[in-house]
Parts: sequence; C-alpha cells; structure tokens
Amino acid sequence: MKSQIIGIGSCVPDKVVTNADMEQWMDTSDEWIQSRSGIKERHWVSEGESASDLAESASRKAIEMAGIQAEEIDLVIVGTITSDYFFPGISAQLQDKLGLGTVGAFDIKAACSAFIYALSIGDQFIRAGTAETVLVVGAEVQSTALNISDEGRDTAVLFGDGAGAAVLKASKGERGILSTHLHCQGKHLKLLWCEEPGSNHHPRMTEDLLKEARHYPMMNGREVFKNAVTRFPEVIQEAMDANQLSIDDVALIIPHQANLRISQAVAKRMGVSMDKVYSNIHKYGNTTAASIPIALCEALEEGEFSEGDTLIFAAFGAGFTWASAAVKW
Ligand code: COA
Repeated sequence: MKSQIIGIGSCVPDKVVTNADMEQWMDTSDEWIQSRSGIKERHWVSEGESASDLAESASRKAIEMAGIQAEEIDLVIVGTITSDYFFPGISAQLQDKLGLGTVGAFDIKAACSAFIYALSIGDQFIRAGTAETVLVVGAEVQSTALNISDEGRDTAVLFGDGAGAAVLKASKGERGILSTHLHCQGKHLKLLWCEEPGSNHHPRMTEDLLKEARHYPMMNGREVFKNAVTRFPEVIQEAMDANQLSIDDVALIIPHQANLRISQAVAKRMGVSMDKVYSNIHKYGNTTAASIPIALCEALEEGEFSEGDTLIFAAFGAGFTWASAAVKW
C-alpha cells in the first residue's frame, strides 16, 4: 500500500511586501537582501487574515484537484509553528472550517521540516491501514512574529506567509510516496528559536520579556547556513539510497525555500544544475512549513514535472530538524 498525492493546493496573502518596503522600515537594502538570500518580495497577511484562513484556502484547492468530497478525509495533519492561538492547534480550526465533524486533527511543530514530517506521518497512517485519505498542510504566518526594525533585520527580511496542502490517498499503484526520512539534532535548538512565551515560567509573558525582545525569532544565520548546506545533500542522498536511485533518476528536487544561496550550494554538492533544484524564493521568501507545498504547486503549474517522474522533497530548519521524501508523481 502506498500514499498517492492526488491533490495539491496553495495560498498566499494578497499583500506583497517588497525589498523597497523593507528599506523604509529598517537599515537594509534591496541589494543586501537579494545578494544574501535571493528574495525580491514576500506576501504578508493583512489585519484579520490568519494562518488558518490560508490553510483553509490551500486545502480547498487540494480537495478540488483530488476530486473528492471533504467528508472523505479521515485525518488532518498541519505543520506550523505559527498557529492562530497558543492552543489548540490550527488543525482544530481547519478541521472545523472544512466541516469535518469529528475527524482526528493535530499539529506538527517541526518548523521548516514540518511539511515533510506531516507527510511522513500521514503516509504511515495510510500504510498501516488506519486511514485512507489524509489531508496534509503546511501553513504559516511569520510576519506577525518578526521584529520589523534594525535589531530584527537579519530575520525580518527573510520570512513570508503562506500555506500549501496535499491530499494523500491509499493506492496500490506505482505512484506515491516512496520513502521519508526524518532527523533532529536538538543540541542546536538555540541557534534558531523563539524563546517566549514559554511555559517554563509564570506568567508566560511579562513586560520585561517584551522589552528584552525575547518573543522574536532569534537566528545565528551563519551556523544555520553551515548546517543546512551539509544536511540538505545528506538527506537527499539518503532518499536516493533508500530507493536505489541515482541523481539522473530524479526529475526535480523541491527543497524548502530557505535561501537561494543554500539551494545553489546544495545543487553544487549534488553535482546538478539549478534546473534540477526548484526555486521560487524570490517571490515568497521563506514560508517555513508552507514552502515545499507552495513550490510543488508552482512547479506542477509550470510543467517542471509530470506523471511518473520521481521528485525529492528536502527540508532543514529550527530544531535543528531536517527531512526528505521521495515521491513518484
Ligand atoms: N540588511 C543589511 N545588513 C544586514 C541585514 C539586513 N537585513 N541583516 C544583517 N546584516 C548585516 C549584519 O549585521 C552584518 O553586519 P556586520 O558585518 O557589520 O556585523 C552583515 O550584514 C553580514 O552579516 P552576515 O550574517 O555575515 O551575512 P551572511 O552572508 O551570513 O548572510 C543570512 C546572512 C542570514 C542571509 C545568512 O546567514 C543565511 O541565509 N543564513 C541562513 C538563514 C536561514 O536559512 N534561516 C532559515 C532556516 S530554515
């Protein structure tokens, strides 16, 4: 039994924030942002728009492409670190918005790797025969978490908002998820993290913590970069080895969109040109758990792959977590 991806969908907010906008709000430049990250613009939510709204829109498109009724879904898994509320997870909101009654739903907080983590879990449910149709989503609103000032410029320019979804269906055919590999190395967690509001003190948020800016994401960019350019190729190779594939058998690598320079370094280490490593970061920035399904939707629309092609998804992010999935489309 395999899990076939029978529908995908994505959604980004309408509001476009350009590098020129960033120049108004902090000491940065279009030249710095583009040369360091490849990002030209990103989409940010407007007041009243939330991660669960983006998740719903992406899910409805995936359900439509799958040609199923929403009621056929028997499990919902959402990768996100930016749920609308501190609890419960965004999956409960999405489950309700889609009118799914009492179907099981939960969140996965594996940051940029969360879509692949969620895909892997959905795949295990299907292989075990516990579920037949699983909705897997990556949805993030990072913009409301950012320190939009000179102090936060190293992270604020990198992140965007968005959502992507995939419907997995049990199938006995050739097409589907061939393998997934999940990794974490928690000893590096403070190199990319958001400390507050934490449950290890009472109250969880104080004026002092806010003044110290401990509720903003903190990143050691160089260390993240160094680890990412090692872990991406490693986990892509792991996916190929598990399926006895050579790089020539892979039609397209769809990496988490963290940074164009990371993707270029990955292509170099894998000995392939950037034609084989999909990139759309210039339009969206880093949308965390949403970046792979958004990229998957665009690559399909652009005719970058077709039925029968082998794809590899790969991600690296906070935790540190990293992961890959090999998929026969
Ligand atoms: N605009 C202008 N200058 C900026 C800036 C910004 N938005 N952000 C940081 N700088 C400055 C720094 O303060 C530093 O100045 P200094 O030399 O006077 O101290 C200078 O630019 C160089 O910073 P550095 O960190 O060496 O740049 P870099 O080449 O490493 O690029 C990142 C910075 C963040 C783009 C890069 O480290 C990176 O991409 N890391 C991985 C990030 C990532 O992918 N995160 C998500 C993981 S899922």
